[in-house]
Amino acid sequence: MSQPTHETGSTGSAAHADGALQLNGERDSITAYYRDWAATYDEDMSAEGYAGPFITAGLAAMAVETDSSVQAIDVGCGTGLVGRLLHQRRPGVRILGVDLSQEMVDVAAKLEAYASVQGGVDLLQYAAADDAPTFPLVLCCGTLTHGHVGSDGVDALLRLTEPGGHLAVSVRHTHSAEQGYPAKIATLADAGTVAVVSELINAPYLDNGGADYWLLRRR
Ligand SMILES: C[S@@+](CC[C@H](N)C(=O)[O-])C[C@H]1O[C@@H](n2cnc3c(N)ncnc32)[C@H](O)[C@@H]1O
Repeated sequence: MSQPTHETGSTGSAAHADGALQLNGERDSITAYYRDWAATYDEDMSAEGYAGPFITAGLAAMAVETDSSVQAIDVGCGTGLVGRLLHQRRPGVRILGVDLSQEMVDVAAKLEAYASVQGGVDLLQYAAADDAPTFPLVLCCGTLTHGHVGSDGVDALLRLTEPGGHLAVSVRHTHSAEQGYPAKIATLADAGTVAVVSELINAPYLDNGGADYWLLRRR
């Protein structure tokens, strides 16, 4: 399936958002792309109508009490757009932000929202480690998409989610359809691995395409 792009030759914010979809899923190219984008990422994504963080943080907020102080991990946290929104609504939640890109987390580190951030973290390697930690709340927005992380991303995120804990995740809609995400989540639910608390298919995400979102409870 071809990746979504703007119809005419895109420039500025649109060129950045479209260019990210053309990455090849390799750690070095993703790291270099976001190193060069970090300084203008927030502004560019705002110009492209980025709704993903609002929906992902909203789903995560549904999973915890207003005065909760649980430990959360925001995987592929980037510059911290999701953490900032969750922190506004659930200020007691202690959020660890991790991302491949050091330059992106350097921006997130300046926010009050994160208890700590760590760059150079690859979701798949981090979750596969024998001593991988688990969290009562896991968030991931914008990272399960073309050229980034494939359908093994959800398995990795669920490995980081403790039993009874929640995962709030976005998957770009075209990537989700290509990788069979809805069927995969349904299979996990049938097997009793997760309960689907909320599912949104092709909901608002970016001007150049929608996303599927799930709030899952790990059983
Ligand atoms: C589109 S940005 C989303 C950032 C942020 N979550 C947001 O919604 O604004 C995608 C992020 O995923 C990170 N990323 C890509 N592949 C990754 C991987 N395998 N492990 C961890 N982070 C990854 C990138 O470095 C980038 O910061």
